[in-house]
Amino acid sequence: MHNKFYVTTPIYYVNDKPHIGHAYATISADVLARYHRFLGHEVHFLTGTDEHGSKVAESAAKAGQTPQEFCDITSGHFQMVWDRLDISNNDFIRTTEERHKQGVAFILNRLKEVGAIYESEYEGLYCSGCEKFITEKDLVSGECPDHKKKPELIKEKNYFFKLSNYLPQVEKLIDEGKIKVHPESRRREVMGLFKQELNDFSVSREHVKWGIPVPFDVSQVIYVWVDALSNYITALGYGQADDVAFKKFWPADLHIIGKDILKFHCVYWPAMLIAADIEVPKNIFITGYFTIDGQKMSKTIGNIIDPNELVSQFGSDPARYLLLCQFPFGADGDIKAENFVLQYNSDLANGIGNLVSRVTAMAEKYFGGAVPEQDDELKEPVAAIWQSYQEGLANFQIDKAIEGIKKTVTLADGYIDKNKPWELAKTDRAKLAKVIYNLSELIRHLGLMVYPIMPETSVKILNTVGKADFTNYHLSDLNHWGLLNPGDKINKSEALFPRIQ
Ligand code: MSP
Repeated sequence: MHNKFYVTTPIYYVNDKPHIGHAYATISADVLARYHRFLGHEVHFLTGTDEHGSKVAESAAKAGQTPQEFCDITSGHFQMVWDRLDISNNDFIRTTEERHKQGVAFILNRLKEVGAIYESEYEGLYCSGCEKFITEKDLVSGECPDHKKKPELIKEKNYFFKLSNYLPQVEKLIDEGKIKVHPESRRREVMGLFKQELNDFSVSREHVKWGIPVPFDVSQVIYVWVDALSNYITALGYGQADDVAFKKFWPADLHIIGKDILKFHCVYWPAMLIAADIEVPKNIFITGYFTIDGQKMSKTIGNIIDPNELVSQFGSDPARYLLLCQFPFGADGDIKAENFVLQYNSDLANGIGNLVSRVTAMAEKYFGGAVPEQDDELKEPVAAIWQSYQEGLANFQIDKAIEGIKKTVTLADGYIDKNKPWELAKTDRAKLAKVIYNLSELIRHLGLMVYPIMPETSVKILNTVGKADFTNYHLSDLNHWGLLNPGDKINKSEALFPRIQ
């Protein structure tokens, strides 16, 4: 059977500079995309930028630019940082692209045709910061608590989506696991939403100018969220002449999103798809949120961490690792920036890096850099590590992959301490040969495990055991014991992660 894996990230608002919250979602998606490619699946990995709405128009005006000029520059910031982080996305969608505009117009027409859209009047308090109407009870001393701004009272003609028509179906799909929401705590939260009042929502705006015109009423633009959610299918060609990718990759196997946009993805989006008679996504994974030293990341507090700085300080692979290793995938967590150096030194410099140099140095010293002979003392423990690594990743638990890497390093370090190769070198060459075999083969496995998370390091590690051509194979061809053969060359490793003071 043809296995495909279509994974998406949220598309990021261009009025923010990329920060580690964005990077976290994108790196996670990259890890899963790389893992699935390694399994031999046909992967499509999409990310992009969300460029419409009054907030973007305001930021552009402040910068003295047209909205399009502003978006071209700020979208570029995202594309550049993803390059620096070695993100392997297959496509990058911008909502100001022609293909997207066409697709969204098609979707709106379709929703209108099937009777899912009606016209009505809307009056409410609108916060341009949130891009949404907010209720009186959300205000704090008359202001939007998030943007510290007084909302405007707005009355306008709008088109509405008949959400109520589709809610029972959406609820059922999630309840029956046809749309799987992860982790479980978030699934429960979504199920709770159906018990509250979920109102029809307006899909157009009259007073906003920077957006995609409603195809059947050009006095209005399409509401940013309808515009943004559609990216997942417009990028595949939905509603356009060439929709081969849509036929091949939709439904999405996984949308990765943050908890702030759960209702849009778990309720509104499936409802829109059902109305338009399009299949619903298979999995939605809600990631946790970073706080920095206990505080929300914000421009006002000035505690925003730029992923570019992490790459400059540590390099791309460590930056990826350091963000992912903070807390289990799906949980919230607090980041202390000073811990990055400690974790780099303990997990990477002293852990992986030190192990690889020790083992390759011993192979060189004792056996002239050649694999001495075969043995399978560590076969079983490594198989057990692989099993939990693979089961974890099959359920999008990236932390299980990190745990597998750490366990492998611990296994190797313990094995060295127990066997003391430097003593065997004087007393028992036959045993020494076995020990060095087990360690070299273990390093090969470590190199494979590291791949989705730290792709460059993986190549370097596998290069030491002469297996840098691993990308020509599937993981299942490589992750069993005993592929190193006596006589294979082992190259001494450069320092993979120089210590940082
Ligand atoms: N443009 C919308 C998404 C549209 S998707 C059809 C949007 N953009 S955003 O740039 O504000 O945020 C996107 C995502 O960034 C969040 O859902 C979340 O995944 C991630 N994060 C933003 N801040 C974050 C943290 N502080 N911590 C972790 N992730 C965070 O919403």
